[in-house]
Amino acid sequence: ADVYGHGLKYERPPFTFHSQEWESLARKRMSIESMGYVCGNASTGETCDKNVQAFRKWSIVPRRLVKTSGYPSVEAKVLGKTLRTPIAIAPVGVQTIFNPDGELAAAKAAAREHVPYIYSTAAATPIEEVARANGDGERWFQLYWPANEHNDITVSLLKRAKKHGFSALFVTLDTYKLGWRPSDLDNGYNPFLRSDTVGTALGFTDPVFRRSFKAKHGKEIEQDLETAASEWTGTVFPGFSHGWDGLEFLREHWDGPIILKGIQSVSDARQCVELGIDGIVVSNHGGRQQDGGPASLDCLVKIVDAVGDKLEIFFDSGVRCGADIAKALALGAQMVLIGRPYVYGLVLGGEEGVGHVLRSLLGDLTMTLHLGGLPSASKEHLNRSCLEHED
Ligand code: FNR
Repeated sequence: ADVYGHGLKYERPPFTFHSQEWESLARKRMSIESMGYVCGNASTGETCDKNVQAFRKWSIVPRRLVKTSGYPSVEAKVLGKTLRTPIAIAPVGVQTIFNPDGELAAAKAAAREHVPYIYSTAAATPIEEVARANGDGERWFQLYWPANEHNDITVSLLKRAKKHGFSALFVTLDTYKLGWRPSDLDNGYNPFLRSDTVGTALGFTDPVFRRSFKAKHGKEIEQDLETAASEWTGTVFPGFSHGWDGLEFLREHWDGPIILKGIQSVSDARQCVELGIDGIVVSNHGGRQQDGGPASLDCLVKIVDAVGDKLEIFFDSGVRCGADIAKALALGAQMVLIGRPYVYGLVLGGEEGVGHVLRSLLGDLTMTLHLGGLPSASKEHLNRSCLEHED
């Protein structure tokens, strides 16, 4: 019997249902470089720690004698669609360093569990192959935004994403340069500067990037992978930020919703509303970019208070279990992106491992709502009145 919904049964799982153990299990299975990359943070890790701890300050106060029939619905309404789950796969680059099947495994698992997949600009697998693996799954494209001098490359990336069924554009604003990450520095590891094309798949298969490389160097990418990798890295992490006025260009070249990822301040969220941006991801990149920042969940509360009804609000950074998802939704997020936990699933079991993580999180969320007397994850039932905050 399906005891907890989402296809979960009392069966031997591929690995534990204890979500808090996924990281330590995965650490044992990774190279020191991959481990440093996924588990590592900016500087002291303070922002990352705060992200996780912020959830512990909120409690879901359960209600009793609420008549229910069946499991609570966890449907989510986002971007004009009704989706079966309120979680999505956060964009994570270079997934083949975690499992040889990388993005293909994660995109297949996502489709099977009805969880939207966000494809990263820094993916290790070409976008066309990931689209095929994802089939008729919901999929969105994450852009690391090249500088204006490479607008032709940006346009080419957007066209490829559109052509292959990526229906929304997530523009990540917190990573115009990779963060100060001691683990990667200690290991001398930069997954984007490796000549084996890890993290360069989107660029190396892009006709416009290929053409400009050839024009500049008089040779094909394959004849000098090292130079090509460093050039692609320089293109997508240009080292400085665009201004708000640059968004017009993206709107001209992207026919669909635009969501800005990495928003933490109320002022920036207000600016997004002013410019008619469709949505934001309240995120600090899991504390991997800027250290000494606020917990992303604390930012969510303030941003929802200011602009919660004026644009779509996605959330990530620090989500580790079903109750965390419930709390972020209760605090006003419409959808929650899962980051590191699914990467650990990928390490531990490829496609099946990602599927197990997603089903576990959804089962945990479902039971958190069910036993809290909450008939659904919709705002009508799951909202701030369900929570208490400890000061
Ligand atoms: C990321 N993240 C990320 N974000 C993005 O917009 N593009 C990317 O390519 C990546 N790559 C990436 C790699 C790895 C290994 C991690 C862990 C994260 C950030 C990601 O989308 C999300 O914001 C964070 O993972 C959320 O934090 P937690 O919950 O994983 O701590």
